Amino acid sequence: MKTLPEIHEYWKVHCTCELKATATQAVPGDGNPHAEVVFIGEAPGKNEDLEGRPFVGAAGKFLAEMLASINMQREDIYITNMVKYRPPNNRDPLPEEKEACKEWLHEELVAIKPKLIVFLGRIAMSNFFPDEKISVVHGKLLKKNIAGMPTNYFLPLYHPAAALYNGGLREELLSDFKKIPLALKKIKE
Ligand code: URA
Repeated sequence: MKTLPEIHEYWKVHCTCELKATATQAVPGDGNPHAEVVFIGEAPGKNEDLEGRPFVGAAGKFLAEMLASINMQREDIYITNMVKYRPPNNRDPLPEEKEACKEWLHEELVAIKPKLIVFLGRIAMSNFFPDEKISVVHGKLLKKNIAGMPTNYFLPLYHPAAALYNGGLREELLSDFKKIPLALKKIKE
């Protein structure tokens, strides 16, 4: 069984994502290797690309505030992105870019074995629930058996970057965030 550092070292060399050509560096997942909750975002932005760590910009700061609101810290969770390289001008990742980074994400999830996977935004969710709409399922605990996945429990949330500049979404996200401890409690029952 590979450790997270081994997984990241392997994929930094072998990932075939074409965004490698324009990105400064890879942005692997980061956080507690024994986390009960894994957050999956979309792709690194400018700050993440420069630092090589996920969610270090404005969206990351907002995420840290929301974690604090449920008595959690970044050190308690693991956070990663579906795509590990910054798309130019932060455009949506293309299907082939998501495909090229898919196995890297899968190995992270298998190594951590979280009880709950939280999707940050539509793009992260669409990888696993292509037919659901984020406006309908945000804040709802979804249960689905996906071959090879370490958990059957998923919680889709709005993306913190989208919510930062939209008061309505911000309120929804803050209230949905409170469902994380409730979901964990339910999963453990
Ligand atoms: N948005 C994301 O989806 N991921 C990051 O790492 C930063 C912003």
